[in-house]
Amino acid sequence: MEAISCKHLITSLFIILSSSLTAAHGGRRLSERPYQEASTVFIRTSCSSTTYPTLCYSSLVKHADLIQTNRVVLAGTALNVTLASAKSTSAMMRTLGKRQGLKPREVAAMKDCVEELGDSVDELRRSIDEMSHLRGSNFEMTMSDVQTWVSAALTDESTCTDGFQETATGATNIKSTVRGQVVQVAQLTNNALALINQLANSHG
Ligand SMILES: *[C@@H]1O[C@H](CO)[C@@H](O)[C@H](O)[C@H]1NC(C)=O
Repeated sequence: MEAISCKHLITSLFIILSSSLTAAHGGRRLSERPYQEASTVFIRTSCSSTTYPTLCYSSLVKHADLIQTNRVVLAGTALNVTLASAKSTSAMMRTLGKRQGLKPREVAAMKDCVEELGDSVDELRRSIDEMSHLRGSNFEMTMSDVQTWVSAALTDESTCTDGFQETATGATNIKSTVRGQVVQVAQLTNNALALINQLANSHG
């Protein structure tokens, strides 16, 4: 008799516990969560070995639904995010370059940078185009091409930020704004390259 009531008590406790857990999470959210969580964990883990992990995570987690836990989509999304940032920075620079009051050396640095950033936009586009042709059969060759284009983009962005450093007498607001933006584009590119390298190394 005592054994039976003890078992009954445990069963009741279990029912109370599990129903309160379900109530706390809400029926629908409970079924969506593990999937979302797997994706954010995947993004965080993949980003942890990049040079700028915080920027990597914050720029990609918005696309968790698309990325799920797919390395190819992760790398492709990183490239797309980088391209969007390079394009908007390039547009901003064209506008700012036309402003009055810039010193001739700043105008020259801005002009060079607009050109270099334009090249990096083209190279990022090429790398995204290459990624869209990625198949099991051409994996190594395609990844190698993607790595080449993204590295070239990174070089152009670095040339741009270096050019700004050289004119560093009496830094103006415009100059530091532009430089900061291009530095961020370069950091996104650096991260995308790291994710591409991870993908390249995952095969084999
Ligand atoms: C990246 O952008 C290209 C071109 O717009 C698109 O075809 C591709 O699906 C995008 N990739 C990802 C992973 O979103």
